[in-house]
Amino acid sequence: MLSSSMNILVIGGAGYIGSHVVKTLLQNDHSVTVYDNLSTGCRENLFAAASFIEADILDEARLRAALAPAGRPIDAVIHLAALKAAGDSMLEPERYAEHNICGTIKILNAMTAAEVRLLVFSSSAAVYGEPQYLPIDEQHPTEPTNFYGATKLEIERILAWYSRLRDLRYAALRYFNAAGYDPDGDVRGLERNPANLLPVIMEVALGRRTQLRVFGDDYDTPDGTGVRDYIHVSDLAVAHLAALEHILAHDRDLVLNLGTEHGASVREIYELARSVTGREIPVETAPRRAGDPAKLMASSKAARETLGWRPRHSDLETLVQTAWNVYAGR
Ligand code: NAD
Ligand code: WQD
Repeated sequence: MLSSSMNILVIGGAGYIGSHVVKTLLQNDHSVTVYDNLSTGCRENLFAAASFIEADILDEARLRAALAPAGRPIDAVIHLAALKAAGDSMLEPERYAEHNICGTIKILNAMTAAEVRLLVFSSSAAVYGEPQYLPIDEQHPTEPTNFYGATKLEIERILAWYSRLRDLRYAALRYFNAAGYDPDGDVRGLERNPANLLPVIMEVALGRRTQLRVFGDDYDTPDGTGVRDYIHVSDLAVAHLAALEHILAHDRDLVLNLGTEHGASVREIYELARSVTGREIPVETAPRRAGDPAKLMASSKAARETLGWRPRHSDLETLVQTAWNVYAGR
């Protein structure tokens, strides 16, 4: 870790992943301002030690003010604010284009105006589309199958141009399936209307939903259910800081996958959740979900070798237990 403390603007820092990133930055003695419109994030996720600006990334004046504060200058931006529901992006492309692509361009322009040149950006495994081989490394073709993934890919392309033309240094982090909660219990905000597997299972365990619908049990996988690479959100958080330190120290850009390089099936996860929660968790088999590949798994060799990063909390037991601690209010 670098010793000098940075002043970091975390855009989307009241969200699920962003709040974990803020915790890691504060633990490492950085100064943090969260910029968030609280559309999906929540106040409960804000840390007292961080400043908070409630504003939208589409608001250029607020962005410019946040990036050029009266006091200590901003050293770096971590940008996690986005609309992220792949299915919705196919129904509302205008909204996804505006928030994700235009919103990011406004951030970049406010950064160049304020001469802030370090950015860590939340990209996604959704940039790859249907896997052509496994594990997926960063050289895998990028052919997104939904507009959400396309917005992330467009942003990555724009970042590469700003790097060439405006001396921006960036890390685009392509997360696989984020899951779990802070093992210390310091982040407790629950996602509203979740669609991802683990929060859905947690809501079934609590009786807020009647059953888990398993989207297909006839895939070409060991137990027939979909296989994904679930990465603990605290492991993702640490990678943001390591990536920021790397682009600062080495004056180069990074595009990195963040995953565990292991796959887990839907069935493995709900069976483990039954044993961790002691709850029944009824399941019913439902038709396959459109656009779902059978199996997705990352190669994170580049992150391991470049950042020395290793997942520490991403074993399935910890993923499920830390989520349950929060859902059960422990
Ligand atoms: P989230 O919805 O919990 O967090 C997004 C945050 O951004 C929220 O706090 C929201 O209020 C804020 N926000 C959204 N639009 C905004 C706007 N226009 N102006 C200001 N703030 C705004 O989602 P998350 O799971 O924490 O995802 C964070 C990032 O990681 C997103 O960019 C997402 O695309 C990406 N990502 C997530 C996953 C995953 O598995 N959760 C996987 C890959 C990539
Ligand atoms: C996981 C597995 C489902 C819900 C999404 C985005 C991706 C990235 C991560 C942002 C699949 C199965 C799920 C349910 C189920 N996000 N499932 N019943 O689709 O792998 O990835 O989140 O960048 O871009 O697409 O995640 O959690 O929805 O699904 O059977 O109610 O669980 O079919 O096999 P996914 P997921």
